[in-house]
Amino acid sequence: MTQTDRAVRIVEVGPRDGLQNEEAIVPADAKVAFIEALAATGLQVVEATSFVSPRAIPQLADADEVFPRIRRLPGVRYPALVPNLRGLERAAAAGVDAVAVFTAASEAFTQHNIGMSIDGSLAAFAPVLARAAGAGWWRRGYVSTAFGCPYSGDVATEAVVDVSVALMDLGCDEISIGDTIGVAHPDDVRRVVGALLARIPAERLALHLHDTYGRALENVEAGLELGIRIFDASAGGTGGCPYAPGAPGNLATESLVGLLDRLGYEHGVDAEGVVRAAAEVRASFVPVS
Ligand code: COA
Ligand code: ZN
Repeated sequence: MTQTDRAVRIVEVGPRDGLQNEEAIVPADAKVAFIEALAATGLQVVEATSFVSPRAIPQLADADEVFPRIRRLPGVRYPALVPNLRGLERAAAAGVDAVAVFTAASEAFTQHNIGMSIDGSLAAFAPVLARAAGAGWWRRGYVSTAFGCPYSGDVATEAVVDVSVALMDLGCDEISIGDTIGVAHPDDVRRVVGALLARIPAERLALHLHDTYGRALENVEAGLELGIRIFDASAGGTGGCPYAPGAPGNLATESLVGLLDRLGYEHGVDAEGVVRAAAEVRASFVPVS
C-alpha cells in the first residue's frame, strides 16, 4: 500500500470491544445476528468475540456457543481475542482462524487488565502466536493505553514502540495502537505514529481510537495523513468508556465512514446497514438488575 492509496480497511470491533463494555447481557442469538449483519455491510473484518476468562468478561462468556454459529461470508475475517493457550484451544474448537492478543504500553494497565507485566504478557503470547502461526491463522496484537493510562497517566512514546515491535517480532501480522481512554490529540498521533513508522510499515499498523473527549475523528485524520489505512471502530459506538462513565468509548463505525466519505477515501461499507445492526443488537440488551 502506498501513501496515496485511498483504500481504508475498517476493523469492526462492536461485537467484542463494544459488547464487553456494555453492562447489559446480550443473548447469543442476538450476538450471532449482529456479527452477520455487520459482515453483510461490506466490512472486511468483524472481530467476533473473546476466549478470555468468563470471570474477567462475563459479557462474552458464551464465545464457544456464538462463534461456531456465525455463517461466515467469504472474504470477511472474524478474529477473536485469546489471552493464553487455554483461550487458543477454545478458539480452535470453535473454528476460529484469526486471533488477537492484547497487552498495553503501560505496566499499571497491563496489571489491572490481565494480571501480568508487559514482559510477562509477551512471554504468555509467544506460544499462543507460535501455535496460531503454525495453524496458518492471521494474528493481530493490541497495544492499549498508547496515549495515556487511566491508572498511571502519561505513557512514553518509546514504551509504545518497544511493545509494538516486540509483538511484531512475535509474529503479529498487524498491530493495533489503542487510545483506550480517548485522551490523544492529533499532535500525539503524529508523535506516536511517527515513531512507530520508523520501525513498522504503515500497512501493518492500525489505529484504535476512542471518542471520549470528541477527538477521535481529528485523530483519524492525523493518522490518514501519516499513511495509516486501517482503523478500528464500533457500530453505533457500542461500548461506553468504563473509565469515564457516561462518555463515549469506541469511535462509531458510521462516524468513521462519514469522515472517510467527506475526505474521499474508499471503504466499501454501507453505513445505514451498520446503524441498523447496532440498533437491532441494542434492542436485544437485557439489563442487569
Ligand atoms: N478461557 C476461560 N477461562 C480462563 C481462561 C480462558 N482463556 N484463562 C483463564 N481462565 C480462568 C481460569 O480457569 C481461572 O478460573 P477459576 O478462577 O474459575 O479457576 C481464572 O480464569 C483465572 O485464571 P488464571 O490462569 O489464574 O489467570 P488470571 O486470573 O491471572 O487471569 C487472564 C488472566 C488473562 C486469563 C484474565 O485476566 C483475562 O481473561 N483477562 C481478559 C481481560 C480482557 O479481555 N480485557 C479486555 C481486552 S483489552
Ligand atoms: Zn476500544
